[in-house]
Amino acid sequence: MPTPTAHLYLDSNRVISPISPVLFSGFAEHMGRCIYGGIYDPGSPLADERGLRRDVLAALRELNFRTIRYPGGNFLSAYRWLDGVGPRDQRPRRRDLAWQSIESNQFGTHEFMDFCREINTEPMLGVNLGTGTIQDAADLVEYCNAPVGTQYADLRAAHGQAEPFGVRYWCLGNEMDGWWQLGHLEAADYGHKAREAAKMMRWHDPAVKLISCGSASTWVPTYPEWDRTVLEICWDQVDYHSMHYYAENVANDTASFLARTLHFENFVDTLAGVLRYVKARLRSKHDVYLSWDEWNVAYKLTPPDQVKRDWVEAPAIAEEIYNLEDALVVAQWLNVFLRKADVVKITSIAQIVNVIAPILTRPDGLLKQSIYYPLVLFSQLASGHSLDVLVQSPQVDTAQYGAVPMLDAAAAHDVENGRQAIFIVNRSQTESLPLDLHWQAAVPTHIERAFQMAGSDPKAINTFENPNVVTTVPIPAPRLVDGRAELRLPPLSFTVIDARLPSP
Ligand code: AHR
Repeated sequence: MPTPTAHLYLDSNRVISPISPVLFSGFAEHMGRCIYGGIYDPGSPLADERGLRRDVLAALRELNFRTIRYPGGNFLSAYRWLDGVGPRDQRPRRRDLAWQSIESNQFGTHEFMDFCREINTEPMLGVNLGTGTIQDAADLVEYCNAPVGTQYADLRAAHGQAEPFGVRYWCLGNEMDGWWQLGHLEAADYGHKAREAAKMMRWHDPAVKLISCGSASTWVPTYPEWDRTVLEICWDQVDYHSMHYYAENVANDTASFLARTLHFENFVDTLAGVLRYVKARLRSKHDVYLSWDEWNVAYKLTPPDQVKRDWVEAPAIAEEIYNLEDALVVAQWLNVFLRKADVVKITSIAQIVNVIAPILTRPDGLLKQSIYYPLVLFSQLASGHSLDVLVQSPQVDTAQYGAVPMLDAAAAHDVENGRQAIFIVNRSQTESLPLDLHWQAAVPTHIERAFQMAGSDPKAINTFENPNVVTTVPIPAPRLVDGRAELRLPPLSFTVIDARLPSP
């Protein structure tokens, strides 16, 4: 029997929300070879005069990240920020207990700011609320954002930066609910510490946007009670609340893995409910949004309390190899961010180079992994407003989630740029899916471009020898006639439609 046709209805009046200008962001931690040997490699012939790898900068520019979260992660929870500023030859070498590595501190706050400028992104700094004090947190805000004239601002100037860095986004610690976290706290203790740190940080700079630690994952036993407790305590002092989640297919059940988006949506819906509950309970007019600031497919992450003690600089940790099915999960995850754009305002892929990352480096070059390609297309094309698309689709059976639609889709409608982008995944491993697109309002003049990633082997990967096995390629743009267009979605595929809107 031929596969029934799927239908996707687009109506520019059915708006979910404006897409946050900082939605597509990234995360770089002092972990493994993310910083050292990834972003920063002063000995490399590929590095610029500041030690930043030119090839990595170029690949990151394409990804067009709006913010980069730094310096951790678990590393953050014992980080002394004063170690990472000032003359390099005077910076201490330390044991990083989180990843059981040696930290040279040759890359720190100023180097990170240079890096952000190079890739045209905003810094998102974390303050250590594990072993650090609320005073340390406030001092770092003074160091970064205060005009010269007081101790830490003057220290910044003495280190070559007279103008304040003006860092807007700040994370109040990292995964403080996790028993593996250095300085782990109970929910109420964290809530109070975060609130007091936030107060001091804001009094230094009222323009800062602050992010409280949400649950480290949905499997953490205190989820979602942690989130409610923390938010009830620091609601008025924070702007965003974080979410973290890593997905994997260890059971080798591709059908269920490709339906994991149901879990991602449930996670957002639960926390959106918590946000609404706390706002109502506190009779507050203030809003807090979600910052999904660690997310990715990950197989090799070991909890820090199980990390082998190698005590070397920049050991290779969690260098994942991504395949086609991973890229399709990442594409659907990005669809979820668009569909939940009313509450999810920041999403940072964890991480950006070498460690659970779309980019892998070697001394002689870099490899763009399968997940790199959906990230580029969303980050470059999804702007304006997220549309509530209506999907009618045949279903596919999964062991974990029952029958789910074959088709997963999201759309962005950008009147200012005169563009509409549609992102579509066919979850089926066997069925080629005929699709009719129907525009019910603001019919585009034409489809300008279309791109596709597809393959018959969900485990196919890119390698340094064969770097273009899993990538997105341009496909013929479907013809748009009378508000309709037809296309055929191969099994295991991700398709992007880039359409032009009529001038207003
Ligand atoms: O991204 C790797 C690690 O995963 C981070 O350091 C931590 O926050 C999370 O558990």
